[in-house]
Amino acid sequence: MARRTKIYEGKAKILYEGPEPGTIVQYFKDDATAFNAEKKALIEGKGVLNNRICEFFMNGLNEIGVPTHFIKRLNMREQLVKSCEIVPLEVIVRNWAAGSFTKRLGIAEGTRLPRPIVEYCYKDDSLGDPLVTEEHIAAFGWASQQEMDDILSMALRVNDFMSGLMLAVGIRLVDFKIEFGRIFDDEFPRLVIADEISPDSCRLWDIKTGEKLDKDVFRHDLGNLNSAYTEVAQRLGVMPKNTSVVQKPTLVND
Ligand code: TMP
Repeated sequence: MARRTKIYEGKAKILYEGPEPGTIVQYFKDDATAFNAEKKALIEGKGVLNNRICEFFMNGLNEIGVPTHFIKRLNMREQLVKSCEIVPLEVIVRNWAAGSFTKRLGIAEGTRLPRPIVEYCYKDDSLGDPLVTEEHIAAFGWASQQEMDDILSMALRVNDFMSGLMLAVGIRLVDFKIEFGRIFDDEFPRLVIADEISPDSCRLWDIKTGEKLDKDVFRHDLGNLNSAYTEVAQRLGVMPKNTSVVQKPTLVND
């Protein structure tokens, strides 16, 4: 196989130069990290599941006219995406109280919020991705006012789309994190949804049982992460039932 140029390696993905200018190959690793990489593990098959689930969400968003960086899935672990300049913000949308929101505001986990609440964190691992306001974003020029208007409306569209998709398969979209990128068409920047959307970056609870089907399973040692993500993938119809992404060794003479 031809050698590829690695552009960047993050906690859960590697980016390689794509086959054509303006494209990138996004490779999903099996590494799971939490609490700013204080907790780490290798979850066999996670990358394959996230690649599939992410493809499903990104294709759907492209289909309804919410632009994303996603072009196509290439294989089990890789997808081809448009190269973009990442806006240094983690945009979080919350429908139900959970995670850092419950701690910060003292609102019990599982409380329905009066309306979706959008929060912004500055993307900087060394600072632990701190919560920031639109004042910080404007003052430091991380995004323009026009971009912030677009980010808010796109984030709410992603929320409605994803909430509906998940509701249809008996899952509550509690909250999620997305990232935005700029693509320069004729020098004018255009915002797209970038990075990934997967159970690593969402909170997903079974509506009937409340069972957690997202990375909180790993963060808080609640069970088998691969089984939780497989359940999400199977309910969404992106993995056939009775399949496993973990290759079992075949016994000889058995
Ligand atoms: P939080 O409640 O821990 O702030 O997380 C909010 C949402 O963002 C949740 O769906 C998990 C997701 N998330 C990430 O995707 N990456 C992160 O680094 C963190 C802290 C949260």
